[in-house]
Amino acid sequence: MVKKEDVDFNNLGFDYLNLPYRYQAIYRDGDWQEEGLLTDNEMHISEAATALHYGQADFEGLKAYRTKSGQIQLFRPEENAHRMQKSCARLLMPQVSTKMFVDAVKSVVRANADFVPPYGNGATLYLRPIMIGVGDTLGVHPASEYIFRIFAVPVGNYFKGGLTPTNFTTSQYDRAAHKGTGQNKVGGNYAASLMPGEQAHQNGYSDCVYLDPIEHKKIEEVGSANFFGITKDNVFVTPKSDSILPSVTKYSLLYLAANNLGMQTKEGDVFIDQLDQFTEAGACGTAAVISPIGALEHEGNVHVFYSETEVGPVTQKLYELLTGIQFGDIEGPKGWILPV
Ligand code: PLP
Ligand code: COI
Repeated sequence: MVKKEDVDFNNLGFDYLNLPYRYQAIYRDGDWQEEGLLTDNEMHISEAATALHYGQADFEGLKAYRTKSGQIQLFRPEENAHRMQKSCARLLMPQVSTKMFVDAVKSVVRANADFVPPYGNGATLYLRPIMIGVGDTLGVHPASEYIFRIFAVPVGNYFKGGLTPTNFTTSQYDRAAHKGTGQNKVGGNYAASLMPGEQAHQNGYSDCVYLDPIEHKKIEEVGSANFFGITKDNVFVTPKSDSILPSVTKYSLLYLAANNLGMQTKEGDVFIDQLDQFTEAGACGTAAVISPIGALEHEGNVHVFYSETEVGPVTQKLYELLTGIQFGDIEGPKGWILPV
């Protein structure tokens, strides 16, 4: 187990640390039994667990933020609860109520409060709720028992550059099928993205940008974040597709761009052969926050957006607004911030 004094809060990446406490509940005989906070970071499960064989597993990702005055707050945790409910419904797993989800998140943050990074450099405490099918099941059927667990890890940047742009590449592979599970945060989507993601890394790119699984003509999303572009006319554009994850960050940016920055916004088709319309582009998500995309490689052509070394002005503004709200420096829309 890691000790607070061993954590270098100024140089965090996105790596697992075994913190003192995690929360767990077990679903058995049709009901959740809360075990509460546990110290053991390992789980003892059946070799016949459906999560291991058939991918009956989903997860969430959200963050706790330390404000300037030292308080701790969450950003729209109910949205993560709702999305997990949808992921669970898709995989025939039992749902966790929004209250149980949010209370459990808060309990993990409070128990590990020493590990919420200090205000000032963008580091946060990342919360990872998971649900897995456990128990003994051999045939392809949903499990009879489930574990809902939430652990926490202090994190810094997901993509190395932070607010410095990095480059991405399209992939010839799909992470999710048309009418598959792309809109749910299920483990299988990420399993499918491991090989393309590693190939992208080996070629010097931060991650893949996936194209639509029907024709490979439209941008879908990044393997770990949604995509957005800013057009020459200052419109915030982001793909609309049933096979991408509905990103809490993306919907927050759509709202803030329209209501705080007076921009036009559009959720629609983003054709890979029409990138010239964009003056800026980025990846957005809880882990990614807003990560500017310097250039996007597609079938040997490299398209540079604003710059490969400098963040564009609109992306910068969106970043300051979003993180300002998340860290409590700017008042956000009603209900977005929940004190812990
Ligand atoms: N798309 C994918 C594939 C993701 O893994 C994530 C991360 O959660 C996102 C998008 C961004 O979603 P959110 O903003 O809710 O974190
Ligand atoms: C998140 O942003 O919370 C994610 O889940 C992205 C990635 C780490 C899988």
